[in-house]
Amino acid sequence: MKPVIRISQSAQYENQEVTIKGWLYNMRSSGKVRFLLVRDGSAIIQCVVVKSEVSDEVFEKTELLTQESSLIVTGKLVADKRSPLGYEMHVSDIEIVQITKDYPITKKEHGIDFLMDHRHLWIRSKRQHAILRIRHEIINAARQFFNERDFVLVDSPIFTPNAAEGTTTLFKTDYFGSPAYLTQSGQLYAEAACMAFGRVYCFGPTFRAEKSKTRRHLTEFWMIEPEVAYFDLQDDMQLAEEFVSYIVQTVLKNRRAELETLERHTKILENTVPPFPKIHYNEAVEILKKHGVDFPYGDDFGGADETILSEEFDKPVIIHHYPADIKAFYMKRDPQEPQFALAMDMLAPEGYGEIIGGSQREDDYDTLLQRIREHNLDEKDFEWYLDLRKYGSVPHAGFGLGIERTVAWITGTKHVRETIPFPRLLQRIYP
Ligand code: 4AD
Ligand code: MG
Repeated sequence: MKPVIRISQSAQYENQEVTIKGWLYNMRSSGKVRFLLVRDGSAIIQCVVVKSEVSDEVFEKTELLTQESSLIVTGKLVADKRSPLGYEMHVSDIEIVQITKDYPITKKEHGIDFLMDHRHLWIRSKRQHAILRIRHEIINAARQFFNERDFVLVDSPIFTPNAAEGTTTLFKTDYFGSPAYLTQSGQLYAEAACMAFGRVYCFGPTFRAEKSKTRRHLTEFWMIEPEVAYFDLQDDMQLAEEFVSYIVQTVLKNRRAELETLERHTKILENTVPPFPKIHYNEAVEILKKHGVDFPYGDDFGGADETILSEEFDKPVIIHHYPADIKAFYMKRDPQEPQFALAMDMLAPEGYGEIIGGSQREDDYDTLLQRIREHNLDEKDFEWYLDLRKYGSVPHAGFGLGIERTVAWITGTKHVRETIPFPRLLQRIYP
């Protein structure tokens, strides 16, 4: 028995006979030699089968192999400077597990609808594989960042009795005869948790019944949300910039090969280190005016505005002090200029839009109750939330980072549908 290895471990087995279990990615022939590209999920390796060096039986097996056939190959790993992996295999034996017939995704160009309908197979392709690997790296780095800083993971429920982010994008479900909604954000529960643990984060799927059909919107997306007691808006912005730069630098360090597969320019990523530019809402409006945009003062920025704003800077930019009227009920207002909320958004560079939304929270009982009423929310649903302002209320702040938009930016992927394994969109719930 030869050691069974992952292709990514090849360097440890130079000049040794090993076994690799995988699938045929591609094959070409040249006279009496077959070059099999075998993938096992960790990497792709070229396996060379030379007619004169193997039995007839083994060589005949190569005639049967088709794209995505499953197979087990055994052979010697030798250094090969020309291959991206640095190694190739000189095959001695092949075991066919299954011959695939008519694999739907071929080398020819396919339309996006076809590929999305075959998402369950498309994720085997090089580009999609690289995006999802980087997604994994981003999530791992995000967790590591908080874990290293003594944050406690306290996950929020998915079924909720009420809205966190406005009532227009709620998904309603039937919870044993009563309405319940899929959560739009874990924040309100993270606020309760931060009063128990000081610094917490939650990480889970969140849902928005967004009728928008843009390249930045999913109906189901993943959000990581830290919440910290005794934090103000300044502290919050600083945490956000350290967090995002940590994620980006980790991807640069560990996922060079995937960034290369994606042909991602890395200059702006390299440049993503604190401090990030931080501008007041009013300054952002001035920038839009300078670009000739007829922007109605007091509105929220649309996708096109965000693109103009982000292109002014060579790293992410934080915009703070949004007009309170366009922001969520829980945001604290600036006591000096109460028309503005102590809110902040981080826009990714290169036109990828908002990746973070956050704020300092209203910590005064009476003010929060008034906001709940102004927003026509049911007071009964928020009794527990108001309790947090009755029993040892303190200033606190937090934010939410959308994983898919972050993956889209870091990988240079235009549409968020390719940044999650199985996207849920306005017009897609298959596969
Ligand atoms: O700005 P949002 O709505 O903020 C909140 O939900 C706060 N409760 C977070 C907090 O303070 N704890 O959403 C935060 C981020 C956005 O910046 C964006 O990255 C992502 O979540 N996001 C979406 N991503 C994909 N599709 C959608 N429909 C999204 N909506 C928001
Ligand atoms: Mg937002």
